[in-house]
Amino acid sequence: MAASDALPLLCTLALTVAALVGAELKSRTCSEVRLAYSSKGFNLNDVPHQGVSGAHLKVCPQSFTCCTPEMEEKLSQLSRSDLKAQVSKLSSSLQATFTQRHRRFDQFFKELLDNAEKSLNDMFTRTYGVMYMQNSELFKKFFLDLKNYYVQGGVNLEAMLADFWAGLLERMFVLVNVQYHFSEEYLECVSKHTEQLKPFGDVPRKLKLQVTRAFVAARTFAQGLAVIGDVIGKVSAVNASPGCVQAAMKMMYCPYCSWQMALKPCHNYCLNVMKGCLANQADLDTEWNNFMDAMLNLAERLEGPFNIESVMDPIDVKISDAIMNMQENSMQVSQKVFQGCGQPKLGVASRAARSVPDNGFNTRFRPYTPDERPTTAAGTSLDRLVTEVKKKLKFAKKFWSALPENVCTGERIASGDECWNGTAKSRYESVVMGNGLANQAANPDVEVDITKPDVVIRRQIMTLRIMTNKLKSAHNGNDVTFFDMSEDGSGGESGSGCERQVCTSDFDFQSPITKRPRLIVQQSDVSSGSVQVSIYSCFLLLVGAAVALLGPQR
Ligand SMILES: *[C@@H]1O[C@H](CO)[C@@H](O)[C@H](O)[C@H]1NC(C)=O
Repeated sequence: MAASDALPLLCTLALTVAALVGAELKSRTCSEVRLAYSSKGFNLNDVPHQGVSGAHLKVCPQSFTCCTPEMEEKLSQLSRSDLKAQVSKLSSSLQATFTQRHRRFDQFFKELLDNAEKSLNDMFTRTYGVMYMQNSELFKKFFLDLKNYYVQGGVNLEAMLADFWAGLLERMFVLVNVQYHFSEEYLECVSKHTEQLKPFGDVPRKLKLQVTRAFVAARTFAQGLAVIGDVIGKVSAVNASPGCVQAAMKMMYCPYCSWQMALKPCHNYCLNVMKGCLANQADLDTEWNNFMDAMLNLAERLEGPFNIESVMDPIDVKISDAIMNMQENSMQVSQKVFQGCGQPKLGVASRAARSVPDNGFNTRFRPYTPDERPTTAAGTSLDRLVTEVKKKLKFAKKFWSALPENVCTGERIASGDECWNGTAKSRYESVVMGNGLANQAANPDVEVDITKPDVVIRRQIMTLRIMTNKLKSAHNGNDVTFFDMSEDGSGGESGSGCERQVCTSDFDFQSPITKRPRLIVQQSDVSSGSVQVSIYSCFLLLVGAAVALLGPQR
């Protein structure tokens, strides 16, 4: 074939191709869009087979398109759940962290109390034997009160401790004065003056300081950990506004309408959309950071000398010290009581016992100290827990204001300037907005009503503010629940259980002791050789006899 013959054919071919291409542009197939759309789980009936006019679209560009208003609607719903998923992906791990930390601390504190109780019970059973066992409910109540305070609050620790020492004095007073009989009223008079008598030395004062501070700190810190999880949960459940959903849809899915399924949004475009969408969340930032700082400060109280572990671990030894102080002071204490509450009557016990020692409880017992203290199942000491949680607290700071930046990373966002800017594949020119609701008035991508703060988030801001104050008070050793408790009701007035008028005023501790309580020491049956028999065993025999007498009644 000659070249001249071929020319017309080539021209015809070229023309045909050009016509075909033009026709395809006008009626371009939407098959790839249909594929992408159905892969999201949507019905193919929403998508046209070929490109259509975009004049009816509400959000996406109104040019030649594969999108319909139905598709916009369904992709908006998808965007709403996408957004929620992205935010909760970030927040749920933080929430899980703190919920788990709360559980660990809570378990630790409860085990610490259980172990302290167990340890005291072991030590006192071995050291004081039946004397302890007969009075063990006093200590049971002590630990129960501590537990109740930790678990539900509503326990005035100072008052609780004062009651405990008064109860202990009452019981010990009877034990060191077995030869006398005391009426209920008389014992009430004794316990009422516990603070003045100071029978336990400095132990109650020190312990009051340590226990209140340590427990307030531990309880409030655990509460704070729970609050973090709570706030995150409530905030991440907040629904996106319609304006936000629309903006997110436009950003994530409008490229589909123009066959650009792989086109990713520009980074700054994403930032503006998210700053608009998460404006209310960002307003948590200030209170959230204050809260984290307050938690970090309070964490010091779990490390310092008043930390609950170093207070509770040796509490058995401390109470034992108090008891030994009382033993040493028992003569003086008793004399002061006899002066103040009156001379007691000799009891039956003194007659039954042939040889009542001058002071039945005056022997100093070496407290039994177990070498190995029980460890917690958590297997950790408070130190380690605190060090670890402090890292988490620092990490959690700025979480809400950093959220837009953290959502706008990863493979869903374009890395360069070849990106979807909301109208075209081109760089995004608008300025990036600031954080928070007040900064969204001029947000170019999200319509935000800056006059309507989200109610749920406002409430969380209030919760954080209140809790921060509680944390600060706890740092100073105060339980806010008891701020306004006046110290009334202490000190016995009229109708006190005193047998004589002396009681209405305070004891006069200054006056020299003039009269010692009379003791009738009966002639001992015991030979002089066996006087060595320990006073303790004598006492035990006595108590044993009493138990035997009381036994059948149970
Ligand atoms: C997006 O790109 C188009 C085309 O370059 C441009 O006209 C428009 O201003 C850009 N939009 C933004 C928000 O930068």
